[in-house]
Amino acid sequence: MSPLIRAVIDTRALRANLETIRARAQGARVMAVVKANAYGHGLVPTALALPAADAFAVARLEEGIALREAGVTQSIVLLEGVFASEQLVEAALYRLEIVVHNDFQIALLESFTGSYRFVVWLKIDTGMNRLGFRCEEFPAVLERVRNLPRPPREIRVLTHLARADERDNPATREQLKRFQAATGGLYLPSSIGNSAGIFGWSDACGEWVRPGLALYGLSPFANESAASLGLQPAMTLETSVIAIRNVPVGEAVGYGGAWLATRPSRVAIVAGGYGDGVLRSLPSGAPVLVENRRAPLVGRVSMDMIAVDVTDLPAVSVGARCTLWGPGLPVDEIAACAGTVSYELLCGVRQRVPHEFV
Ligand SMILES: Cc1ncc(COP(=O)(O)O)c(C=O)c1O
Repeated sequence: MSPLIRAVIDTRALRANLETIRARAQGARVMAVVKANAYGHGLVPTALALPAADAFAVARLEEGIALREAGVTQSIVLLEGVFASEQLVEAALYRLEIVVHNDFQIALLESFTGSYRFVVWLKIDTGMNRLGFRCEEFPAVLERVRNLPRPPREIRVLTHLARADERDNPATREQLKRFQAATGGLYLPSSIGNSAGIFGWSDACGEWVRPGLALYGLSPFANESAASLGLQPAMTLETSVIAIRNVPVGEAVGYGGAWLATRPSRVAIVAGGYGDGVLRSLPSGAPVLVENRRAPLVGRVSMDMIAVDVTDLPAVSVGARCTLWGPGLPVDEIAACAGTVSYELLCGVRQRVPHEFV
């Protein structure tokens, strides 16, 4: 029996998206961002499905180690670097590249006694105000890192864009200007563009781009579809109907009686709830595909189930196939219904949901 709810990952779409990104990135190398369990798609199988990626980027040491242990041979970059000397030793052991964004991390490198020579990515804060050295600090930082007891194998620079998804916002132009002012003339390999940078700002690429969302087939822009950018959704969250109820007029469905039948209704109970990553904030009316036809969610999302009004789809019976998002039902649309972004929905797919790579 196939599992009731499952995330089906289309590896062909992942690879096609990688090539679309590559074509947009003006010759830049592509560091596929696979942190947060590859945005919910599955860390190791996603990376293994992308042999053409030039590198992978993760947020946590454990993610980098898992990739190496699974046999990933490409460069792996720790986007937040390490936070203790033992972690630095492990990063060396697993040949991970490290982002360095504060003085403490430079001090860790100064006291590192191993023979490994790291590739060090110096992060410059050009306006995000999250991680990174301020532009005016950068010359002294670079000097310090060049003079480490074990100088890096290579020094590279990166910054992160805060508002690249807003094509008309001058903040990105200002960030790019600051980055150029801090690093111009140094001839250090650089990385700037996330998905929005790659598709929205042709000079936001640098020698390396760092796409996450676009790799998974989603648009980084609120008013441009993934299809219009040449991207294909890689994840379909599929499930099935496990029961059908006939609900008389005036009766409520689910916790809190949040939805009342205003006509004699047929309601399909569908496997999948917030215990799987279906957000509880999804309101009545949010679309679900039942046998490829749209039907509205009714009542509150519960832990393992949702209810869907299939009164207008009389052929639907127990076992009918449902799509919570995927081709034909963009995850952005569901995210908008829940008042959030597609990143949160994808990353929220829970561990108990089996992933099938096809
Ligand atoms: C430092 C860094 N680079 C790249 C990315 C990828 O961003 P996106 O998924 O918008 O392409 C992220 C994601 O959060 C990030 O934190």
